[in-house]
Amino acid sequence: MLSRRIANITPSATHAMTARIAEKRAAGENIITFSIGEPDFPTPQPIVEACEQALREGKTKYTAVSGIAALREAVCDKLRKDNGLDYTPAQICISSGAKQALSNAVFALCDEGDEVLIPTPCYVSYVEIVKLAGGVPVLVPTNDDFSLNAENFRRAITPRTKLILLNSPNNPTGAVYSRASLEELGQIAEENDLYVVSDEVYEKLVYDGAEHVSIASVSDAMKERTVVVNGFSKAYAMTGWRLGYTASNLTVSRACNAFQGHMTSCSTSFVQYAALRAFTDCDAAIENMRRAFEERRDYMHARLNAMPGISCQKPQGAFYLMPDVRAYLGRTEGTRTIATAEDLCNFLLDEAGVAAVFGEAFCMPGTVRFAYANSMENIRLGMDRMEAALAKLR
Ligand SMILES: Cc1ncc(COP(=O)(O)O)c(C=O)c1O
Repeated sequence: MLSRRIANITPSATHAMTARIAEKRAAGENIITFSIGEPDFPTPQPIVEACEQALREGKTKYTAVSGIAALREAVCDKLRKDNGLDYTPAQICISSGAKQALSNAVFALCDEGDEVLIPTPCYVSYVEIVKLAGGVPVLVPTNDDFSLNAENFRRAITPRTKLILLNSPNNPTGAVYSRASLEELGQIAEENDLYVVSDEVYEKLVYDGAEHVSIASVSDAMKERTVVVNGFSKAYAMTGWRLGYTASNLTVSRACNAFQGHMTSCSTSFVQYAALRAFTDCDAAIENMRRAFEERRDYMHARLNAMPGISCQKPQGAFYLMPDVRAYLGRTEGTRTIATAEDLCNFLLDEAGVAAVFGEAFCMPGTVRFAYANSMENIRLGMDRMEAALAKLR
């Protein structure tokens, strides 16, 4: 009955985990969630107030498909100031979340059978968005420290390769790609006539003084070949508001508008007005969130590494840690055997009331992704419970 395209899709493992958590909570269990990629902070007050005002002023009608002019101008200012990128408002398409912006870009660029290179581990939706667009996802492993491996890209390129789907700072690894590695990848893209969709939604969340670099900024030629994707969910704690955007050359931005025009029209009108304040009045709120995330990263990283058999890199961005848990595979507790990272996540959920997502969902078996977008108190408690549960595995 279902179309082949839809029948071929793997549902999101993170959403599946959220449903399991809800069931357990409904049954009265206390669950600590490290599974959801969502800031635990409230949306900054100036944005909420601007939304209320927009509603009172009746800003409740369709806007242009590409978004209100003031927001597209504000996005241009932001890209100039933060990323050294010069775009005109006609090159910006405002969409309902970065996820829709990603879909717009991939559908705009990908023909049936086109190959799309995706460095792994990767965000759960990339493979599925590419498949929905008729493309063929080609997984390109990163190095052991989750940095880009140029040789692996070179080897993966065929005459059908069209696009690279890049994400820095990265979900699920937290890796922040260096300027040098992006320059090298840019060269590979130019030599092989490839486009890049660069997902930069975690740009504001970098630590230890690390620098976020957009691959669009490494050369004029790369700016022409790159679709920058960004959004408000992670930087401004606005996950439920659903607002994101693309910046690209005019041909691609017209295509994004044409596609979005038939899918969802514009994004929510009063949310667009509210978002104007994100750029002007929220620097202090963002910096407070960033500092809190950095402190949590340091604490959780130390706790995970102190657990026997767990080894965890210390990434410089986003709000995720992705430890290697292979030492636990093959262990048992009673009749329960831990054969995969997914089994380990189910064990932690049942035994410790701790929710995290298995690496298989991000194309990286043998690992588990922990989001530290939770209070210090919950992180402390969650790590205590996890440590005690792991000690039961023989
Ligand atoms: C790498 C990455 N890109 C895009 C998104 C989607 O963001 P939005 O809420 O703006 O659709 C997420 C959300 O988890 C993400 O982790």
